Amino acid sequence: MVPNKGQVLFVGVSMLSLLSSSFATVRYQPEQVHLSYGEKERSIVVTWSTGNKTDSIVKYGGGDQLLQSKSGSCTLFVDGGHKQASQYIHRVTIYYEDPDSLQPETKYYYHVGSDLGWSPVFWFVTPPMNLTGWAPSIAIYGDMGNVNAQSLPRLQSETQAGLYDAIIHVGDFAYNMDDSDGEVGDEFMRQIESIAAYVPYMTTVGNHESAYNFSHYRARFSMPGPYENMMFSFNMGPIHFISFSTEYYYYLRYGFKMLVKQYEWLENDLKEASHPANRTVRPWIITMGHRPMYCSNKDNDDCTLVKNRLRYGLTPLRLFALEDLFYKYGVDLEVWAHEHSYERFWPLYNYKVYNGSFDKPYTNPKAPVHIVVGSAGCQERVDSFNALPPWSAFRSSDYGYSRIKVHNATHLNLQQVSDDLDGEVIDDWWLIKEMPRIKFPLAEQMTTEENQIIEPSNVLKGL
Ligand SMILES: [Fe+2]
Repeated sequence: MVPNKGQVLFVGVSMLSLLSSSFATVRYQPEQVHLSYGEKERSIVVTWSTGNKTDSIVKYGGGDQLLQSKSGSCTLFVDGGHKQASQYIHRVTIYYEDPDSLQPETKYYYHVGSDLGWSPVFWFVTPPMNLTGWAPSIAIYGDMGNVNAQSLPRLQSETQAGLYDAIIHVGDFAYNMDDSDGEVGDEFMRQIESIAAYVPYMTTVGNHESAYNFSHYRARFSMPGPYENMMFSFNMGPIHFISFSTEYYYYLRYGFKMLVKQYEWLENDLKEASHPANRTVRPWIITMGHRPMYCSNKDNDDCTLVKNRLRYGLTPLRLFALEDLFYKYGVDLEVWAHEHSYERFWPLYNYKVYNGSFDKPYTNPKAPVHIVVGSAGCQERVDSFNALPPWSAFRSSDYGYSRIKVHNATHLNLQQVSDDLDGEVIDDWWLIKEMPRIKFPLAEQMTTEENQIIEPSNVLKGL
């Protein structure tokens, strides 16, 4: 039988659809590679994404050949948008104590993937054997964005030149990770691969990560601890870093329970870090939260208000007030972002300046020091300022980022780099705490009742 025109067309269309389905796009190729510190001291977590499910393998080595290998696992992440775009997020942890694993102060080359596809080769350098004697350098900033990530090229150049041991991003990553069904988040993670694949990229959550109850932030990063990156602490040299969510205070629609849990966790972590046995070997405590307690910007953000939620607590009972808590445990430095500017404050407690002395305000200060570092980039442009209040020491609306350079257990050097001024250091100051360290003067008198710190365990009982 000779086929008619209709039959020929039907067979042709069927063959075409068969061919197109057999050549459907696959995404085995690893991308968005980034590092972080793991659960155990000296462990490194390597995280990356693929479109299709594959094995999760890191091949690494101290020389040209990647002779060592470590396997992990992957989880499926589905964006909450209309397309329900999905990807597999892979995690492999490399522990120092594994036989034949990492050696101190060694440059390791690595690539990630599976037999279906491998990433380019990246490298990282392990810290020295004596961890508390280590004097690391850290870049720290917030509010970068996918569009107008102005500080990124300079950070790429400096990171790959070996200037930093880690990078800390204090919230507001891609503007926003969930936009365009998660494509903006993917592109941002590809952008930062050029720094985050070389040094641990440690994070703090911001308001721009709020979509779908912070699901992109919780899924894409791999911070230590059981709270999906929302609160955790880690050590670098003589510093104990604490990262927490200021967003629990503002997105109460996602529930109250995690705010209660976080306050309890913060107090426990601070208590342990302040124990003399720990504080002696690791004297510096630095906190990172996205929205500041203090700022002098010309906007109506909460930090412009005396009774802002973080500092003063949730009214009317002053629930979960953080200024008293951080003061009580002698936090040295509080790093914030959210305001698209840089601001350094005098040592400060309850709007009162507690300088170490007139000549040396940051030598043995009598209260924590706050800085705001939210000027890395993003399309929302920079923020301007109100008239200079007496508690603000230095401010700039240049795009840029900060550096924390550990000198030793008594001296920290801090710098603010202006990207607008081609990398010029526009603020350079030392935070000095001589031994034996003096306690903040009012901390001795602080009791739960006097300072209206609500014990969270009592609140939890009511939930
Ligand atoms: Fe923000």
